Amino acid sequence: MSRYWSAVVHGLTPYVPGEQPKIDNLVKLNTNEHPYGPSPRALDAMRNATNDSLRLYPDPNADALKQALAQRYGLQANQIFVGNGSDEVLAHAFMALLKHDQALWFPDITYSFYPVYCGLYGIAHKAVPLAEDFAIRVEDYLPTGDDRPGAIIFPNPNAPTGRLLPLADVERIVAGNPDTVVLVDEAYVDFGGESAMGMVNRYPNLLVVHTFSKSRSLAGLRVGFAVGHPALIEGLERVKNSFNSYPLGRLALAGAVASVEDDAYFLDNCRKVVATRERLVSDMEALGFEVLPSAANFIFACHPGHDGAALTAALRQRAIIVRHFKQARIDQFLRITVGTDAQCEALVGALREIVG
Ligand SMILES: Cc1ncc(COP(=O)(O)O)c(C=O)c1O
Repeated sequence: MSRYWSAVVHGLTPYVPGEQPKIDNLVKLNTNEHPYGPSPRALDAMRNATNDSLRLYPDPNADALKQALAQRYGLQANQIFVGNGSDEVLAHAFMALLKHDQALWFPDITYSFYPVYCGLYGIAHKAVPLAEDFAIRVEDYLPTGDDRPGAIIFPNPNAPTGRLLPLADVERIVAGNPDTVVLVDEAYVDFGGESAMGMVNRYPNLLVVHTFSKSRSLAGLRVGFAVGHPALIEGLERVKNSFNSYPLGRLALAGAVASVEDDAYFLDNCRKVVATRERLVSDMEALGFEVLPSAANFIFACHPGHDGAALTAALRQRAIIVRHFKQARIDQFLRITVGTDAQCEALVGALREIVG
């Protein structure tokens, strides 16, 4: 607190990221990073880019990366926006594309950065309750009467539940709100979902946001992107160019391009995580846990006989870190990132001891 702070800063409630403990030999299953490393081609590209050219600014338009993404996803480069992690892409989308005088709608249980951006930009929001089983109910996002969203955002799969909304339902929400932008945050879609990217040519109000942090094993590099109608992308570029012309450095651009070009490695690594997830789910269920259906690289689980916070603490004592949210409706749940097979076996072994 300081008298030199602006009124805006006084009113902020900043996002609290999952912890990154500096302890060796932790089984770290709390921030949904990929358990396997990035593409070796991406690492080589970054090593090769580590040279005297770093004295020069990077390409402010990130043309090579947009081209690579356009080719990979069957789009035009002017349908793609890139940023310093998808958090930055989302922040710019909040600034550029939301009606600031009408509430943004999102699920009551979702990525907790959304209300933070609303606070930063002075945007009202409405938390729309998920169904009992934590599914998004499409009808709740189809406006009637005067209660209309200024925009809609939801992750698909949702976080931290992992639940997937079928593509046909995503389309109903997008088609049912032609006058507002619908942001679909697909941070986890590569682990079992179907992307809405294929719909951007049909819906000028749809923006789909992706990250390199999860399925491409590059959380440390900070690269994210959005795809949508060129007019939406232009809006994002206007904000970006009013904020930071160079959000992606030369190393990030080189690594990201090579990662996109190494599709086989990417697909294979996603498949490995999905296979481990399925084993983890059945091991947890065998221990009496209730696990929500997950299409992500994490699972969301609770045990009818054990408190969520107590389980988290007991795991921590055994050097296993998972995420627990002290939030209504979900405070009995653990969000557990799918790690390597060995990490998941360590987790299940510890839980077996704890829940007996
Ligand atoms: C739903 C969702 N969206 C976006 C992000 C941000 O990812 P990044 O900024 O690393 O690209 C996260 C990170 O955990 C997330 O869970």
